[in-house]
Amino acid sequence: MNVLTNKNIILGVSGSIAAYKSPDIVRRLQDLGAEVRVILTASGAQFITELSLQTISKNPVYHNLWDQQAELSMGHIALAKWADVILIAPASANTIANIVSGMADDLLANTILASNCPIFIAPAMNQQMYAADSVQKNLNTLSGRDVHIIPPEYGTQACGDIGDGRLPQPDIIAQQVAKVFNSGKLNGKKVLITLGATIEAIDPVRYLSNHSSGKMGMALADACIEAGAKTTLVYGNINAKLNPKARTIPANSAEKMYQVVMDNIADQDIFIACGAVSDYAVKNIAKNKIKKSDQTLTLTFYPTKDILKSVCQLKSKPLCIGFAAETQNLVKNAKNKLKNKGCDAIILNDVSRPDWGFKSDTNEVLFLTQKSSIKITQNSKQKLGREIVKIIAKNFL
Ligand SMILES: Cc1cc2nc3c(=O)[nH]c(=O)nc-3n(C[C@H](O)[C@H](O)[C@H](O)COP(=O)(O)O)c2cc1C
Repeated sequence: MNVLTNKNIILGVSGSIAAYKSPDIVRRLQDLGAEVRVILTASGAQFITELSLQTISKNPVYHNLWDQQAELSMGHIALAKWADVILIAPASANTIANIVSGMADDLLANTILASNCPIFIAPAMNQQMYAADSVQKNLNTLSGRDVHIIPPEYGTQACGDIGDGRLPQPDIIAQQVAKVFNSGKLNGKKVLITLGATIEAIDPVRYLSNHSSGKMGMALADACIEAGAKTTLVYGNINAKLNPKARTIPANSAEKMYQVVMDNIADQDIFIACGAVSDYAVKNIAKNKIKKSDQTLTLTFYPTKDILKSVCQLKSKPLCIGFAAETQNLVKNAKNKLKNKGCDAIILNDVSRPDWGFKSDTNEVLFLTQKSSIKITQNSKQKLGREIVKIIAKNFL
């Protein structure tokens, strides 16, 4: 797994002679695992062709704010939501000024305004242009708004001048972007996450389970690892790839998951209960396959142990975060769970929606504490995972 695996990057290419380096920037980002989509300004297209960027990025190149097909689904908003990072390289003096002033006259400018992800700008221009008061002031303003500036290099320029203004090598740009994901927000922390569905045997062949895929838990695990946490995954039945950087322990049944969690919780700083644990298990599991008959079959269930509540009741409990998968009275049920379990936060998941939640790659959640409620609007589970980690770090650490 590379540092930019599962990361979506928009590369904005504006009208600088250094645009000839942009296909190589795409390649270097891809080398680190990123999925890249390119937005090309009209001036950018004077320096590099759409075809080159499309071929290298393996995605259509976006350039037209007035693309009727794309805008049927609000293309510029969808692009902004899709991106984990927007990188503008090369960034022309004009594009930099546009961003500072909030101009929204082309697709790149609109996408930037509609996004809430980190933005990187790699200015590239003639050394005298770069030194101009207005350009320097604009870059300072952007720095003050937490835009990451990748400074240009010193050297001989296309026009023959020597000075600051050359676009850095593509691999250096890609490395700078990658750093944003190693936030270090959970450095030194140990996190234990349960994920996936438990399986409760009925007989040697059949079982009782649920629709959880483990994708949300895995996305959270990826985000915790990215943020520097030592992460342990206690997983049931999942349809997601386990992050090789995590310590992983299988635990198929509710009883096994309870045991594994309790055996491993002592030195953990954070416990995230994302596993979909069966509330009931079958009493008297049949030793042999139950044969079909004309008679009604009655199974008896007993309540399983409450893992989240048990961890919350530990003397020296970690920070405890639960998930509430609800289909009705969403907020009321989630608030009750927060109170009854005694946890620090509950992440509410509306699993009645067909367009997100169970099995889906997207989700929308409400992060609830006793005092606050933060909505994280529908997005990929990867992005949600990172948002949740940010909220945990900001509110509790
Ligand atoms: C040959 C040529 C090279 C240029 N190189 C640069 C450059 O390296 N950096 C820059 O900021 N502007 C450069 N410009 C000017 C921009 O292309 C111009 O300001 C344009 O409006 C930028 O549009 P955009 O920001 O929407 O892409 C150059 C113009 C020409 C004609």
